[in-house]
Amino acid sequence: MSPKRFFPGVYALEGESGEALATLNLTPGRRFYGEQLVTVDGVEYRTWNPYRSKLAAAIRKGLGVMPISRGDKVLYLGVASGTTCSHVSDIIGVGGHVWGVDFAPRPIRDLIEGLAKHRDNVSPILGDARRPRTYSVNVPKVNGIYADVAQPDQAGIVVENARVFLKSGGWAVMAVKSRSIDVTKAPQRIYAAEIEKLREGGFEIDESLELDPFEKDHALVVSRLKP
Ligand SMILES: C[S@@+](CC[C@H](N)C(=O)[O-])C[C@H]1O[C@@H](n2cnc3c(N)ncnc32)[C@H](O)[C@@H]1O
Repeated sequence: MSPKRFFPGVYALEGESGEALATLNLTPGRRFYGEQLVTVDGVEYRTWNPYRSKLAAAIRKGLGVMPISRGDKVLYLGVASGTTCSHVSDIIGVGGHVWGVDFAPRPIRDLIEGLAKHRDNVSPILGDARRPRTYSVNVPKVNGIYADVAQPDQAGIVVENARVFLKSGGWAVMAVKSRSIDVTKAPQRIYAAEIEKLREGGFEIDESLELDPFEKDHALVVSRLKP
């Protein structure tokens, strides 16, 4: 059976243990973090685990519109060793590019060795997402920002980076980890406050999804910078 298409470049594969989310593998034969490679009708897919990636969890939770498109230029804040980034790289394809920022040297080293060496559309940047001007020489204007930094000021970081890098009408996808902000408050109050900060920063909110049971006390917010 042909894979079911969720969004351009994102599929559901039928397997013995049910349906698995997957992206088209941009570098056939190569896997990056223990995911499975599955070939259907001569096309290779990489399975995408919603317990390992908040974007995959959001798709599983019913994401309505996938903001990331083929050919997009993406600034990824909190890229770590590149688990989700590898699927973003699949979705944007050879015509797109992702600049991945992380302030921890070890994951950046793993990103270089594990992913960027094998893909021309991924550029790692060792940098602090709270100080976008420090990497502005390395990153052009982008179509979208994906942020997963697990910091107390997650929305503020998105807004500051958007001022420097995001094109008018561009998208921002922000993962919110409520426990990084305040363990004493209800997660829903924290999500609402972060969303308000995005609005104040000039964003319109498209969608907000809670990611339980894949990620406890996390939400993913999809927004667009008003033209
Ligand atoms: C939850 S992990 C990211 C996982 C990754 N997005 C994925 O799905 O594969 C959060 C990452 O954000 C990074 N981080 C936290 N604060 C940061 C900052 N101010 N600047 C850059 N990276 C930051 C951490 O080093 C960590 O690697």
